[in-house]
Parts: sequence; C-alpha cells; structure tokens
Amino acid sequence: MKSISEIREDFPYLDEKKVGKKVIYLDNAATSQKPKCVIDTIANYYAYQNGSPHRGAHYLSMLATELYENTRKKVKNFINAKKANEIIFTKNATEALNLVAYSYALNNLKEDENIVLTIMEHHSNLCPFQYVKEKTKSHLRYVYLDDDFQLDMKDLSNKIDEKTKLVCITMASNVVATMPDVKKVIEIAHKKNAKVLVDASQIIAHKKVDVIDLDADFLAFSGHKMLSAMGVGVLYGKYDILKEMKPFLYGGDMIEYVYEDSSTYLLPSARFEAGTQNVSSVLSLNTAIDYLENIGFENIEKYERELMDFAYDKMKNIPFIKLYTTSKKNRGPVIAFNIEGVHPHDVSSILDSFNIAIRSGHHCAEPLHRFLKENATCRVSFSFYNTKEEVLYFIEKLEEVRRILHLGH
Ligand SMILES: Cc1ncc(COP(=O)(O)O)c(C=O)c1O
Repeated sequence: MKSISEIREDFPYLDEKKVGKKVIYLDNAATSQKPKCVIDTIANYYAYQNGSPHRGAHYLSMLATELYENTRKKVKNFINAKKANEIIFTKNATEALNLVAYSYALNNLKEDENIVLTIMEHHSNLCPFQYVKEKTKSHLRYVYLDDDFQLDMKDLSNKIDEKTKLVCITMASNVVATMPDVKKVIEIAHKKNAKVLVDASQIIAHKKVDVIDLDADFLAFSGHKMLSAMGVGVLYGKYDILKEMKPFLYGGDMIEYVYEDSSTYLLPSARFEAGTQNVSSVLSLNTAIDYLENIGFENIEKYERELMDFAYDKMKNIPFIKLYTTSKKNRGPVIAFNIEGVHPHDVSSILDSFNIAIRSGHHCAEPLHRFLKENATCRVSFSFYNTKEEVLYFIEKLEEVRRILHLGH
C-alpha cells in the first residue's frame, strides 16, 4: 500500500508548493479532492478520445462508446451488480434519486399507500418524494433516531406495512455519521413487498458496497464524492424493476422507433440516459474506481476509522463543544458539532482564515436539524488523505475561534 505521503503527492490541492498555501481540507462529505490521474483522464479524453458515443461509425465515436461502456462494466463490478445494464449514468446522486421518484414511485404509488423515509435523509432523498406524495395522494412516514442518533428499528418495523411501496434510506448520514443496518431494513421491507432505495452517497468512498449482498432494489451515489469529476452519478436498479419503468427524460439515444405521435424506447440502461453523455466525467469515474481499489477499501476503512476515533475522542472532551455524532464505532468519517455561543458560519469563516475548510449550515438536511433542535451545525468530514496532524491543528484552532470572539476569557 502507498504511504500517506505518497497518497498526498497524488493530489495537487494537497501540495503546499503548488497551491501557495497549506490547506486543511475537511469538507470531504461535500466533495472530495481529485488525484492527478483523474484530472489527466479528463484532459486526455478531450485531447485524443473525444467523440459522441453510440452515434457514429467513425473511430472516435466507436472509441468513446467503448470507453463509456467499459466504465459501466467497471461500476457493475465495483458495486457487485449482476448486469452492466443495471447501471445508469446520471449527472449526480440527486438526479439518480429523482429518477426513482419520477419513473418508479409516481407510477407505482396509489392514494393512501405510503413511502417510509428516515429523518436523516438528505433533501435529495426526501424532496422528490414529497412531490410523489402530492401527485399520488400517498403519505410519507418518517422513522426517527434515538439519543445516540441511531435509527429506531422498532419505529421502522412499525411504520413499514402492507401499504408501504418504497423505503428511502441513507447508508451513512452526512450529518450524524450513523450507518444504519440497511441490510436488515431491506429484509424488513421485502417481507412487506416494499422496494428499497438506498442512498449510498456518503459511503461510496469509504466502504465496499455490494448491492447483491444488500439485496437493494435501487442504489444511488455521486462520483464527485469518490474522487471523480463532478457531473456523473450512478443509479443501480434491479433489471426486472428497471425494465418495467417508464423513461425519466426523453430525447436522443434512448428511443427505438419514433413516430409523429408516439415512440418506443430502448431497454435499460439506455432508456434512462437521454441525450449526449458526459463521457469525460464517466471516464474520470473509471479512473477514480481504479485509484480507490488500488489503495483498497479495507485499508481506507481502517485508516479513516482511526482518524475518526482520534478526532471524535478529542472533541468529545472539549467542554465548549456539543457533538451531533453517533458514538457507535460503525459510523462514517463525519463529525457535526457546535461551539457554545458561536454561530456555525462564524466558526467556519474564522477557520477559513487559518486555511481550514469545514462546512456550516443545515447540510441539506433541514428536517434532521429540526429534529436535533438546531438551525445549523458545523461539520468536519475526513478522507484517507487527511492526517492526525491536520486534525490536531483543526482542534487547536477551535480554541482560537473562541479567543477571537472574546469568549471564555
Ligand atoms: C447523503 C447524501 N445524499 C445525496 C447527496 C446529493 O449529492 P449530489 O449533490 O452530488 O447530487 C448528498 C450530497 O451532499 C449527500 O450527502
């Protein structure tokens, strides 16, 4: 395995000399930094491989088709899907989750049926289903958390019933770090014949995801949180479900025959990929997968868990900090917190003046924040390229935030 310094050398933004300042990037849950190989893939595509896939009989078009479709196979293996055409490329996780709302839920929910969600869902896995609820006159049922921010499984079992058609659940919270037992949730849902949509956005860069082992019906994630360029997301769906679904977007490259008044559509995955594809971003995802697999998810998980425990244990003992992070060791590398008496945006701005990047706000999880009785929180989130030295520097500067604001003296 590469050493941490070798890994850091792969990321231009972590190079103090190139950037002109030493930046401590602790906003990995928003988006990851990119290794040079990913950036090179994009430049190389536009320099030497740029063609429109599926549309031409010339060399560049065929090359682009081959590279694009090879990435579909790569993603299939990456998440252990059965077939490559169970992998749909979208522009991000949000679009993937909307695709399920529009093409599956809108057509499969009836009045008085329900969708079960957890209170920790990101808006992307929540707002599309509010739209479905309005259109179909169905209901949303939320499952809440216990005092340690763990999903209340009893509440969940009670809320999933014969009228539940879909369960929307995150594999890792982008705020409280909880990793619910999604495999168990799927088992419970399937007993009631409900389908399950898994939001894997916050786990995909940190832990191996296996859709067959989970028995997930749908699973979504964004490439940009796992080292790839922005502009590519993935929706996995079981083929038997996908082939019964109507298209989400209509246009080029997803049709079979087009008449003046009607059209017939290709089979999945093409049915759900209307328009010219974002080939360069898709190829960057291919390189990102290679990069992550080369380091190895076991190594990533072990390293990040140590870093997370180190940061959590230190922050837990600081009297002026309140944590909104589960204490369970099975958690994502994310810590949400507040400094007593300081607005999260002030914390984030002051830390930025020390070149420390953290996030503040509601992190696209307003219902969760209402449940936590907070308008906003600060959030640090780690990646395998962060170090304990960076964590210590960040923690040291939390004291400085209070000093600058003349608190506690
Ligand atoms: C848990 C979760 N789901 C979905 C998303 C949406 O991802 P994107 O904005 O890339 O579509 C995010 C992004 O922060 C997230 O954290």
